Amino acid sequence: MSGGALSDAGVPGIGLVGCGIISQCLLEGAELAGIPIRAVCDVDRGKAARTAQRVGAYVRETYEELLADPEIQAVIIALPNDAHYLAALKALDAGKHVFCEKPLTTSAAQSLEVARRAETSGLVFQMGYMKRFNPAFSAVKQRLHQIAPVTTASFRLTVSGDPVLEGPGREPSSWHADIERAGGGFLVHSGSHLLDLMMFYFGLPEAVWGSLRRDASGNEYANSFMFRFPDGLHVSLQMVQTRARGLGYAGSTWEEIVEVNGVNGRLAAQGADWMGKVPPRASFHPADGEGPRELFTFWESQWAEEMKAFVTGIAEGRCLGSTAADGYRVDYVLEQLKRLENESGLLELRYEL
Ligand SMILES: NC(=O)c1ccc[n+]([C@@H]2O[C@H](COP(=O)([O-])OP(=O)(O)OC[C@H]3O[C@@H](n4cnc5c(N)ncnc54)[C@H](O)[C@@H]3O)[C@@H](O)[C@H]2O)c1
Repeated sequence: MSGGALSDAGVPGIGLVGCGIISQCLLEGAELAGIPIRAVCDVDRGKAARTAQRVGAYVRETYEELLADPEIQAVIIALPNDAHYLAALKALDAGKHVFCEKPLTTSAAQSLEVARRAETSGLVFQMGYMKRFNPAFSAVKQRLHQIAPVTTASFRLTVSGDPVLEGPGREPSSWHADIERAGGGFLVHSGSHLLDLMMFYFGLPEAVWGSLRRDASGNEYANSFMFRFPDGLHVSLQMVQTRARGLGYAGSTWEEIVEVNGVNGRLAAQGADWMGKVPPRASFHPADGEGPRELFTFWESQWAEEMKAFVTGIAEGRCLGSTAADGYRVDYVLEQLKRLENESGLLELRYEL
């Protein structure tokens, strides 16, 4: 059986590469969706052993060993950002379908290379932009046609950190706080999601202006941008780390708000944490004069939905989430935004894919 084919049961043998923080969310999603994980690996053997025990998988010593395993047809790459590039290329070379955590890599050039390889591989390559599967943000996407034409839109994220303005909020020894290894700070960790969502809703922006501010460690703690789309639509993106506490409807440390206005109404979605443990909200304010309508009553796990999409996509031979090309486009825009420190000149966006 070739690496890209499904196993007899129709569910691919899935291997998990990296057993850290995000893998716990992905494993929870796989479990909820009834998707087995066959093998795991991590350079931290204790983590690998504990994870394997939790999900009933076996351990491979290295990810190269896992990629050589004929029982494995698909891999989840949940490694530090600077390890995605090589792991993704090796996985594609080994003929495995890939689910890769965001960002795709730490540079637009590397992401372009991976995306091009993914496109010609015939394999499914899905990015870990799970907000597309969040019930609130996906409900907005599904209703955009009902308020069309869209007139304005905004994406806002406010996060309280302690200590704030001193890095992405993790212990200094972690790769998360290492701007070089992560490819950036708050803008990359969290802004990448908002850019993916913006492109999911409206396609590719053609220009951007605005500003970002960095603290002494290089973390982009305050970001304010305006994107222009080919049809003339302008969309704003604001994201800030602040000392403010008790944010949003849940009084938490995280407030994410998306608002889209159209000639025929308004759509709004809100989130109160990145893990989706606090139920998100979405509402539709139609132009017909009736009051706002809540957009969903049953709250599905974004992690289960994205894992289901990965496996269903493999069965259908197409990516049902954010593609490697989408991952490249986000990384390209991120690279351009980093040029906007303390300036507000217009940048034209020219994608190579
Ligand atoms: N989708 C989201 O909202 C979201 C949230 C958090 C993290 N992430 C992404 O998930 C990825 C992992 O982040 P995390 O927070 O889980 O980090 P983490 O540090 O908790 O986990 C990474 C794991 O990879 C292991 N590792 C490192 N190099 C390895 C190698 N060569 N072979 C095998 N294992 C190796 C580490 O020991 C660690 O256990 C990152 O790309 C991050 O950006 C996404």
